[in-house]
Amino acid sequence: SETGSLSIIVLGASGDLAKKKTFPALFNLFHQGFLDEDEVHIFGYARSKISDKDLRDKIRGYLVDEKNASEKAEALSKFLQLIKYVSGPYDSEEGFKRLDKAISEHEVSKKSSEGSSRRLFYLALPPSVYPPVCKMIKAWCTNKSDVGGWTRIVVEKPFGKDLESAEQLSSQIGELFDESQIYRIDHYLGKELVQNMLVLRFANRLFLPLWNRDNIANVQIVFREDFGTEGRGGYFDEYGIIRDIIQNHLLQVLCLVAMEKPISLKPEHIRDEKVKVLQSVVPIKDEEVVLGQYEGYRDDPTVPNDSNTPTFATTVLRINNERWEGVPFILKAGKAMNSKKADIRIQFKDVPGDIFKCQKQGRNEFVIRLQPSEAMYMKLTVKQPGLEMQTVQSELDLSYKQRYQGVAIPEAYERLILDTIKGDQQHFVRRDELKAAWEIFTPLLHRISNGELKSIPYKQGSRGPTEADQLLTKAGYLQTHGYMWIPPTL
Ligand code: BG6
Repeated sequence: SETGSLSIIVLGASGDLAKKKTFPALFNLFHQGFLDEDEVHIFGYARSKISDKDLRDKIRGYLVDEKNASEKAEALSKFLQLIKYVSGPYDSEEGFKRLDKAISEHEVSKKSSEGSSRRLFYLALPPSVYPPVCKMIKAWCTNKSDVGGWTRIVVEKPFGKDLESAEQLSSQIGELFDESQIYRIDHYLGKELVQNMLVLRFANRLFLPLWNRDNIANVQIVFREDFGTEGRGGYFDEYGIIRDIIQNHLLQVLCLVAMEKPISLKPEHIRDEKVKVLQSVVPIKDEEVVLGQYEGYRDDPTVPNDSNTPTFATTVLRINNERWEGVPFILKAGKAMNSKKADIRIQFKDVPGDIFKCQKQGRNEFVIRLQPSEAMYMKLTVKQPGLEMQTVQSELDLSYKQRYQGVAIPEAYERLILDTIKGDQQHFVRRDELKAAWEIFTPLLHRISNGELKSIPYKQGSRGPTEADQLLTKAGYLQTHGYMWIPPTL
């Protein structure tokens, strides 16, 4: 692995994303020994004029919780010492010149460790400032070529609002940095069971012959949250649930469920296959979309009283290729619903000539629970144990807490930031992938903003509009009756 000084620069250092996700992930990496104290330095950059100590005090509370505070106290104070703050505007050179000076000083002081200069810029900022910030980084802050190393940029969604704005953003950044330097984070790609998809699908003979239109009736990818948009209504209202969750997180999961086997595990080979699936998705039909908005959403003072922004959506995607023609992929996401979970549900077709048909509770389903309580379970019909010949729905269950006791599952951001340092782009969204993703949803998004599609009100804490369940039924999903899987407790 590479050596030499490593500077991690968090721009937007006092913002929400930095405090809640970026710094805690960096601290966890540090605590686990992935960031070498002799090499790494962390810089926070933002507009407000505060001191190093102010920044450290601001983020300290997000890095440890009461339970583990004493055990991590030493690591915490070492970590905080590695953080320096530089203040300046996002669009003028003075701040960035100062930033470059601070980074260079650090690089000189760590010269004893030999090797090159590695600079990772994490843009925890709104996308509107990506172009000026990237320009400034390019002009003043890239690694110095005489010592080698690299400069990388990490960005988060929303990457634009539709195809056109996303492409514009991509080309502005693309003029400054090479695609190999740009890391577009979709944190769902850092989740344990999302990363497991590739292994599950392509390392198990069991699934190979079944994973297609001959056997699978429908696929659901579902995200629910049991809270609303409290505190971020202003942001949310401009974007809505399709841009916030479906166009990125759920679509990325769809790619991994539906793609063909990549030629190899090389990141480019994997991303090539994801692009192909996205390009095979046919235009979404209005009658295969249900939008919802929870009652009370507009009470937020930052949300306009006549907002039509969906906080819930179910959309059916259809993939026109040899493997999937005729199989609906149902993507569903909602805020302020009855539970908080995300899962992938693969429902198999009926047994042909089924002699047990009259007593069955439901079809085979393979469920991958992404969160909470990571698990995979397969719903099967078995004989009800006992003297009678009765059938009952049961399951083969791989619950991670039980099966992998004591194994800590890393946070998505930890993994992804580590990948950016290693230079592994497998779990990041490539430019053409992003474009293909926007191509799928842009026409629908425009019809929503033109008012051609309306959001149906639903009660907070509910399943969403009943129209969404009707759409599921129409798409061929058969609900299992009298059966519920309850994750085992330890
Ligand atoms: C973010 C969305 O990308 O993902 C939020 O902007 C959402 O609206 C969050 O709450 C969900 O992430 P997770 O990892 O908690 O499922």
